[in-house]
Amino acid sequence: MIAKVKTVAPLFAAGLLFALTAQAQTTAPPDEALRAFEVVRSVLQHPRCRNCHVPGDAPLEGDKSVLHNQGVIRGPTGHGAAANECTVCHLNQNLPANYGPYAPPGSPDWHLPPPDMKMVFYGLSAKNLCLSIKDPRNTKGRDLAAMLAHIRDSRQVAWGWAPGGRRTLPPASRAATVAAFKTWMDAGAPCPQ
Ligand code: HEC
Ligand code: HEC
Repeated sequence: MIAKVKTVAPLFAAGLLFALTAQAQTTAPPDEALRAFEVVRSVLQHPRCRNCHVPGDAPLEGDKSVLHNQGVIRGPTGHGAAANECTVCHLNQNLPANYGPYAPPGSPDWHLPPPDMKMVFYGLSAKNLCLSIKDPRNTKGRDLAAMLAHIRDSRQVAWGWAPGGRRTLPPASRAATVAAFKTWMDAGAPCPQ
């Protein structure tokens, strides 16, 4: 009986150690996860992204995120006011460079999120941005995996790294943003305090 316990216990301990090591290899420690979230935050709150992800009733523009010119408003669906829809000026792609640096940028179906689902990034603390994107009530039910897919695949998001004119780019590349999002998500998506 005693002999049996002696042989099983080390085996069990070895199995546990193996399980813990295997987990450590796929999950980043909390510090690294928080650093990864900071990369994601710096992109979501960069002007190329935050200018549409706004709490107010109109988009913002430029690196200083000033209120959009031409009396543009969000409107009932995020596509602007009737007869002044976003797509009157914003075409499916950026205009050629000879239209000048202040030409309206473009990507397919340019618009804001709707008023009842604003998906705000602008002006939130890092902690509140983190809590907000984890709350399906703010994301149209998207979970983090779906949000990762949106950042990786959406053509609107792609525009942020090819914005035309003299517009600055987000601080991390799209690939680095996707990788950071995954690191953060796989580590249980911890939020900064
Ligand atoms: C009357 C034309 C017009 C309409 C309508 C319009 N825009 Fe614009 N928009 C522009 C122009 C021109 C610029 C570029 C301004 C600049 O670079 O100085 C611009 C820039 C922007 C930018 C800034 C991009 C950046 O990162 O700096 C955003 C965001 C934007 N528009 C969103 C919208 C949305 C959303 C709508 C509809 C709700 C809309 N616009 C309707 C003309 C328009
Ligand atoms: C022209 C406006 C516009 C710009 C610029 C823009 N977005 Fe968005 N974004 C939207 C709209 C509209 C939606 C909602 C799409 C939907 O749910 O169908 C959205 C949704 C999202 C979502 C899903 C959010 C959620 O809560 O479910 C993410 C993530 C996102 N955008 C990231 C970005 C990033 C990153 C950038 C910059 C590289 C960016 N967006 C730039 C308009 C914009």
